[in-house]
Amino acid sequence: MAFELPPLPYAKNALEPHTSAQTLDFHHGKHHQAYVTNLNNLVKGSPLENQSLEQVIMAAHSDSSKAGVFNNAAQVWNHTFFWNCMKPGGGGAPGGDLAAAIDRDLGGLAKFKDDFKAAGAGRFGSGWAWLVAEKGKLKIATTPNAGTPMTDGQTALLTCDVWEHAYYLDYQNRRPDFVQAFLDHLVNWDFAASNLAKAK
Ligand SMILES: [Fe+2]
Repeated sequence: MAFELPPLPYAKNALEPHTSAQTLDFHHGKHHQAYVTNLNNLVKGSPLENQSLEQVIMAAHSDSSKAGVFNNAAQVWNHTFFWNCMKPGGGGAPGGDLAAAIDRDLGGLAKFKDDFKAAGAGRFGSGWAWLVAEKGKLKIATTPNAGTPMTDGQTALLTCDVWEHAYYLDYQNRRPDFVQAFLDHLVNWDFAASNLAKAK
């Protein structure tokens, strides 16, 4: 069974003005689609073809001859996760266990937002900024290129794509402004909280 591009969980213009329909048209319709197409071509006829996406990521990560498979599989997973990390009218503050964990491990929401923004802005080149859970503790992390927290034994709670293709049409070189808009207006805290609940 071939891997498929999942539909966006909202309309292409639903995140405006913080992320434009044009950006989502390219980012989902072209970039994410290309990772899906490349992955299907790379695993066709191999034992990986019928594995889950997570199984393919883990198997390819431990085999240096499968860097292309890893890069495309992880980018498929990361992008699907990223779309769900945003919603129209997002931002605001988390509640419940997630808010308590951010207070306990990351110095509160305001400090988390400052540190997450700095991490995303400071990730040299292409990559991802993450909020992860590891051994019951929350951390801010970044990964280069297609890197994904599952290969480090971490559970992803939230991510922001900081590849230029995620923001260049709307923000040009101003990556920090994009990450700030993500935090203030787009974050789907309910999705992050559901990932924390699954990590326990
Ligand atoms: Fe992307």
